Amino acid sequence: MWQNKSRPNKTAKIPYAYKADADDPLVLIPDPDIVPLVEQAMDYLDEGHSSRRTANWLSEKSGKTISHQGLSNIWKAHRSETSELLKSRKKQRRKNAPKTESEKRVKAAKRKRSDAKRVLTMAEKKIAKLEGKDASNPVSDNLDFNAVPKSTQEIVFTPNPGPQTEFLAASEREVLYGGAAGGGKSQALLADPLRYFGNPAFVGLLLRRTNDELRELVWKSKELYPKAYPGAKFQEKASQWVFPSGARLWMTYLERDEDVLRYQGQSFSWIGVDELTQYATPFAWNYLRSRLRTTDPNLPVYMRATTNPGNRGHMWVKQTFIDPAPANKPFDARDIETNEVLVYPSNHEKAGQPLFQRRFIPASLKDNPYLYDEGTYEANLLSLPENQRRQLLDGDWAVADGAAFPEFNQKDHVIEPFDIPPKWRRFRSADFGYSSYSAVHWVAIDPSYETLIVYRELYVSKHTGRDLAKAVLEAEIGDKVQYGILDSSCWHNRGQIGPSIAEEMIAMGCRWRSSDRSAGARVSGKNRLHELLKVDEVTGVPGIQFFNTCRQIIADLPVIPSDPK
Ligand SMILES: Nc1ncnc2c1ncn2[C@@H]1O[C@H](COP(=O)(O)OP(=O)(O)OP(=O)(O)O)[C@@H](O)[C@H]1O
Ligand SMILES: [Mg+2]
Repeated sequence: MWQNKSRPNKTAKIPYAYKADADDPLVLIPDPDIVPLVEQAMDYLDEGHSSRRTANWLSEKSGKTISHQGLSNIWKAHRSETSELLKSRKKQRRKNAPKTESEKRVKAAKRKRSDAKRVLTMAEKKIAKLEGKDASNPVSDNLDFNAVPKSTQEIVFTPNPGPQTEFLAASEREVLYGGAAGGGKSQALLADPLRYFGNPAFVGLLLRRTNDELRELVWKSKELYPKAYPGAKFQEKASQWVFPSGARLWMTYLERDEDVLRYQGQSFSWIGVDELTQYATPFAWNYLRSRLRTTDPNLPVYMRATTNPGNRGHMWVKQTFIDPAPANKPFDARDIETNEVLVYPSNHEKAGQPLFQRRFIPASLKDNPYLYDEGTYEANLLSLPENQRRQLLDGDWAVADGAAFPEFNQKDHVIEPFDIPPKWRRFRSADFGYSSYSAVHWVAIDPSYETLIVYRELYVSKHTGRDLAKAVLEAEIGDKVQYGILDSSCWHNRGQIGPSIAEEMIAMGCRWRSSDRSAGARVSGKNRLHELLKVDEVTGVPGIQFFNTCRQIIADLPVIPSDPK
């Protein structure tokens, strides 16, 4: 297939995907780095992708530019015997070829007209660009070119070659499509369940964190779904699509962990989550897995997610999907805490076999010609500060130098809850915040190595001192807490008439010391926490550990502080 070639002299041009032999510059050999990419590109062409987009994809992947015409030529040279598409096009051409003289003249005139149209469109785009206007709707679309044949069948959605196509073709149980902003991730997530909407048994669930964010997805779905399934109806109140077959897709929000209760007792064969890193912990994702089932053997069950790097859930998403295997490579799903492969239990007929597979497919803006070719969006992303730029433009998951506590890890610092012996000393520490939130942590001191065990947390917002005092006392009923440390600002009177926040709480029976006066107060200090997180070389135990029930602090600690979105 890819045979050696020769060239007349040392400076003659080298054809695409070839390189000069090291020993004899007149002999050209296929370049092993580029040939597989060209083969992949030809597969895309065989599948019906546009040659322009495929050529862009190939140029990007190989680092060597190729025109769509150049790629088409290679395709024809290599695949004219095997590609069904090429064969059918050839047949069509032969059938349509003008036979009489007058037919030939008409054909020549039509070609001139389409050349003219192309020149006009390009000129308009150029003018629009020079004048800084939006060229997406060039005037020529409105001119009368109605003799130009229109394709009779409307193509509803064609995935971009590369990752978007791979995402839609993926067969693993759980797949994350993640990376650069604008890579076409949400669009792919909407398109993924399209193939099942003809099946009456299909029930899907598509989630975003909040209703506001969901709205954008709903709009997009309204552009897409009725085209593919005329008669499809979106029921606003139930926020669900109902297709003529009876298939349903529920598009809704999942903001807090408790919201999963809304799905209790329901089952879905397809679950999609847009922007997975907006979830601080894996709780929702794991719970949703329990909703994944179907009684129809023709329906595969899948969970699909998309995301940018760098939100609150950056770390767990990275540990679940990115760290275990190289990108694009399917791998056996592992437990996020123990890092062990999840297997069937010993009493199961498949005992010891992996439960299911996962895969991570990276997205890059360059994969999405709808945004990338235009250039404005790329320029916007390029203007961001370095960390955000690396996350949002390059889809870089390794950006962690913004992480406040890189020492923190699940393995050393997160433990199963246990009954704390009554003799251990206990205290609580609080940061007060009315409009953002107040955080309270209860800590016990393990006397063997003086390890601090954070065993309870309380996060509330819009609580006054009184409200907070009430919540704290309620949380610690039956618990012998010896003292509490409250940040020193709460002791100032803030120039108002009346008691300070601390006084307000103490009056309610919730006693505190000021963080200024207590040695333990430095717990909340950043340096002290760095020290505590270190694992002692001798004992192998860190200075602080968290019950895994303290989900908020476990989620917040490893998070990169700058919020990229
Ligand atoms: N295959 C496609 N066909 C047509 N339009 C597409 C295709 N893929 C993406 N687009 C368009 O490109 C734009 C960006 O895509 P999308 O919103 O899916 O990106 P994203 O990766 O989810 O971005 P973000 O990270 O900002 O959420 C959208 O307007 C979308 O409609
Ligand atoms: Mg998106």
